[in-house]
Amino acid sequence: MKEIPLGFVAGTVIKRIDWAEHLFSLHVHAPASAFPSPPFTAGQFSKLAVRNENDEWVRRAYSMVNKPCIEGDDAVFEFLVIEIPDGKLTPLLGDLKPGDDVLVGTLPAGFMTLDEVPDTTKDLWMLSTGTGIGPFISILEEVEQCQRFDHLVLVHAVRTQEELVYKDKIIDLMKAYKGKLRYVPIVSRESVSGALSGRIPQQLQTGGLATAAHVPLTEQNSFFYLCGNPNMVHDTRDALQQMGYKKHLRREAGHFSFENYW
Ligand SMILES: Cc1cc2nc3c(=O)[nH]c(=O)nc-3n(C[C@H](O)[C@H](O)[C@H](O)COP(=O)(O)OP(=O)(O)OC[C@H]3O[C@@H](n4cnc5c(N)ncnc54)[C@H](O)[C@@H]3O)c2cc1C
Ligand SMILES: NC(=O)c1ccc[n+]([C@@H]2O[C@H](COP(=O)([O-])OP(=O)(O)OC[C@H]3O[C@@H](n4cnc5c(N)ncnc54)[C@H](OP(=O)(O)O)[C@@H]3O)[C@@H](O)[C@H]2O)c1
Repeated sequence: MKEIPLGFVAGTVIKRIDWAEHLFSLHVHAPASAFPSPPFTAGQFSKLAVRNENDEWVRRAYSMVNKPCIEGDDAVFEFLVIEIPDGKLTPLLGDLKPGDDVLVGTLPAGFMTLDEVPDTTKDLWMLSTGTGIGPFISILEEVEQCQRFDHLVLVHAVRTQEELVYKDKIIDLMKAYKGKLRYVPIVSRESVSGALSGRIPQQLQTGGLATAAHVPLTEQNSFFYLCGNPNMVHDTRDALQQMGYKKHLRREAGHFSFENYW
């Protein structure tokens, strides 16, 4: 393998799940000795890198979907990726299969974690589009830590039904949470029974999300994490601000925080 860039370690693809054309998950193992223990905090992202046809490393950020863990000598990472036609890295990731090499960044980062949620929060709302559901699955895997909340609401907005990924995992988590976890799928470009239609900001403002989740929105109890498409993040911020919610800052507790994927 060409010399590994600083801040990366060689990993191996262990498993691949294809959810739909262009939408897949990669399970990657990398030497645990290259990472802190645990290797990351639920909700964080790391980087993946692959060499392109010009022999250059192409690297991008990807959130971990799994619960932080180490198996034997390996740190375990799971990533959910959508392949962007003409994208620089995702078509290369899309070619990976079990046994292939991929570089993993050794410095996981990001503040969309449970520690950053204000202590006063009773209901944690996780609003995602597309692959933005990934870090929320990782957070939800921390079942014990999440017991501090009365309710957890996972909202996943996608274009088509086949992009509603990790359904079996979500069903298992709902059982583990014994009623605390509510799952609200939104499908925008098909009519799907059991899913809301439209978009997150509109469903927030009309009360559709609160009704579907059976969890009221209140300034006292609700905290919102937003993740995925930056246009969704922008419009949802506007909607939340119009509803009286404030951006969360470390120096001044507020009601929402976000991570843009591009
Ligand atoms: C903190 C962070 C975490 C991220 N986590 C993930 C993740 O878990 N899974 C993931 O697939 N991507 C994630 N991304 C996006 C990822 O880093 C790449 O930008 C993406 O995979 C496209 O890479 P590319 O080289 O193929 O496309 P590029 O050649 O860089 O083209 C970028 C264009 O692709 C589109 N795009 C980028 N990311 C997405 C996306 N996730 N969904 C839909 N359209 C997109 C946008 O139009 C963007 O302008 C994350 C980004 C950040 C900043
Ligand atoms: N080649 C292919 O066949 C193929 C297939 C799938 C994806 N892709 C690639 O993947 C990318 C799309 O990924 P994705 O499906 O995760 O994309 P997305 O465009 O981020 O759509 C995900 C969800 O976000 C919603 N959304 C978009 N803008 C919003 C806003 N301003 N406010 C609130 N919600 C908003 C969408 O609603 P709306 O539907 O109303 O916009 C949709 O429900 C594309 O850029 C494309 O390159 C390619």
